[in-house]
Amino acid sequence: MNNANNISCVDIVCGLAWGDEAKGKITSELVQKGTYDFVCRWAGGNNAGHTIYVDEKRYKTHIVPCGVFHNIPSIIGPGCVVHPESFIQEIQYLYENGFDTSYVKISPRAHVITEQHIQYDCNNLYSSIGTTRKGISACYADKALKKGQLCKDEPSLQEFIWDEILFGAVLCEGAQGFWLDLDKGNYPYNTSSTTIPYGACSLGFPPQKIRHLYGATKIYDTRSGNDPDFPEQLLDDLTLSKIVFLGKEYGVTTGRKRKVNWMNLNKLIHAIQVSGTTRVIVSKVDILQQLNLLKLYEGKILHTFDTYEQMKSYIIYVIRSKCPMVEKITFSSSPHNI
Ligand code: IMP
Ligand code: MG
Repeated sequence: MNNANNISCVDIVCGLAWGDEAKGKITSELVQKGTYDFVCRWAGGNNAGHTIYVDEKRYKTHIVPCGVFHNIPSIIGPGCVVHPESFIQEIQYLYENGFDTSYVKISPRAHVITEQHIQYDCNNLYSSIGTTRKGISACYADKALKKGQLCKDEPSLQEFIWDEILFGAVLCEGAQGFWLDLDKGNYPYNTSSTTIPYGACSLGFPPQKIRHLYGATKIYDTRSGNDPDFPEQLLDDLTLSKIVFLGKEYGVTTGRKRKVNWMNLNKLIHAIQVSGTTRVIVSKVDILQQLNLLKLYEGKILHTFDTYEQMKSYIIYVIRSKCPMVEKITFSSSPHNI
């Protein structure tokens, strides 16, 4: 079993919004610069979609953590759910692209997503909730009902089972985002796992080991799936549609057009405070700059700024005054790196 004393530090990347905040970009940049011994996923399954650039080439993953691109052990944690067939397909894809997939490991306690879970999701939840149809909630439900199937008992996953040992420096890669969390999200429109960073401790370390908490967001909000907080009319808004097109706001996993709205600053502040984020990364600022659409909501007030610099200064000012634990705020316009 894991001896937590052998872990020197843990950095965490989490989403501060509704997923799709460029966590993949941030994690892969940290992996390249840092000296991590492990890269771990702590929650969710192949409902996630990470876009990763390695040597200018674009890769898409759904369940495998991005350490595999840099020969770092990549752990799918006990809080994750795995669809064996999709996992093996992803392994095949990585192998064919020249990556050493022996670095990928799955917790023996992660749960298996079965065809019945997927059927349940497609037949009962997709039309009302707008799920990703990956069987996520049914799998977590069976886990809680003690009817679940563990990855350690699934023959096709045997060679990938993790010995549950962590040591050195650990990077945890979040999936989904703060407002999709099972407890904090807009129930029942949220996902079924703990997306907030404290969930990462399920990998086997105490909260005291956490060093940096990177919180990812975009300069505008997006939502894939149904949510009364993101009414369908947003899809018909001609101004917001410009952001959908220029920002390429289509789901990596589902291909669906995402609903776009102006940044909700109060929600962002709450997510920073509750997640414990110490380093904020605001991505895709070039999209609003190019369109010269410089707006954000603070409560019900819609602020409009004359220049991008003014908007940026205002965001920095509000974060600094309300979130004293934030050490660093970075604005990024690159799809590849920060
Ligand atoms: P589920 O996780 O497939 O059950 O979907 C529940 C809700 O979370 C739906 O609104 C999905 O669109 C949303 N969701 C789940 N995973 C992601 C993600 O990785 N990015 C964005 N939205 C997601
Ligand atoms: Mg994504």
